[in-house]
Amino acid sequence: MDLKDLKNRAEKEISLAQNLEALNEISKKYLGKKGEITLVLRSLKDLPITERKKQGQLANQIKKQLEQAINNKDFKTKEDVKDRIDITAPGTRPLQGHLHPITLVKKEVEDIFAKLGFETIEGPEVEDEWHNFDALNIPKEHPARDMWDTFWLKEKGLLLRTHTSPVQVRYMEKNNPPLRIIVPGRCFRYEATDASHEINFYHIEGLMIDKEISASNFKAIMEKFFQEFFKKQIKLRIRPSYFPFTEPSFELDLECLVCGGKGCSVCSKRGRIEMAGAGMVHPNVLKAVNLNPNNWQGFAFGMGLDRLTMMKYKIDDIRLLYSSDLRFLRQF
Ligand code: PHE
Repeated sequence: MDLKDLKNRAEKEISLAQNLEALNEISKKYLGKKGEITLVLRSLKDLPITERKKQGQLANQIKKQLEQAINNKDFKTKEDVKDRIDITAPGTRPLQGHLHPITLVKKEVEDIFAKLGFETIEGPEVEDEWHNFDALNIPKEHPARDMWDTFWLKEKGLLLRTHTSPVQVRYMEKNNPPLRIIVPGRCFRYEATDASHEINFYHIEGLMIDKEISASNFKAIMEKFFQEFFKKQIKLRIRPSYFPFTEPSFELDLECLVCGGKGCSVCSKRGRIEMAGAGMVHPNVLKAVNLNPNNWQGFAFGMGLDRLTMMKYKIDDIRLLYSSDLRFLRQF
């Protein structure tokens, strides 16, 4: 029996063993009661004395070495180490998404208006000419159409809505007053971009129709809203303006909260920022949805949701809101 060969075989098998079960088999095969080494040791007695001594020493040595190799066998492969979980190690926080600042502000605005009795309504971003213009007292060829630089679609009479006001019309076509709604939504205008203008932006429309509604209701609601939204008294300025679908029409300005009224890129150095167009709903709009202007009146406003977001978080460029820049977005 070639003991060296036996040793080599055994060592090779030990090194290749994948698990404890396989290792036990090997141990049995070589070191067990009928194991190969055991048999060698047992057969020593048949050898001549000198040979017996030499073989005996060698066999015992190999036996020890194999026992050691089996005891020291470590099944740790690289994979095992990777898979092992150290439950005491500090964890890594999984990346979690969060809401965009415009969405945060939209939700907050909705909540405040809900407390004032306004329901949140949505409408389509692709509009038809009737709802975006005609029903709002802006017939074709009316010069006021130029106020809204429009993205027209190839389909006849369809466009990307230039404001959320068409949803006023859609809602009044289906619902009878008294009513109070707000309509947050995306609008599109074909115009040059700068720190406070984007070709797509968010408006929030407001509409309140009831009996004996006047401009003072509008003022009271807006004062209440801004106070809740900014958690402090805000200086509002209401000045006369023009919109075809309101009469009289107003523009609502806010002291610029980005610069505190000193003048910056957001307010074009004016210290104030236009927050909303508004007015008393024009009788022609009421007539377009079959309401009698002698019985019903109301106010409407369209407020810039982006600008509101910029004032709230002191963001000095509207384009940041649409930039997808994670360094910016991670701050909210
Ligand atoms: N829709 C107007 C705009 O695009 C804002 C507005 C809404 C004005 C409602 C009056 C009433 O600026």
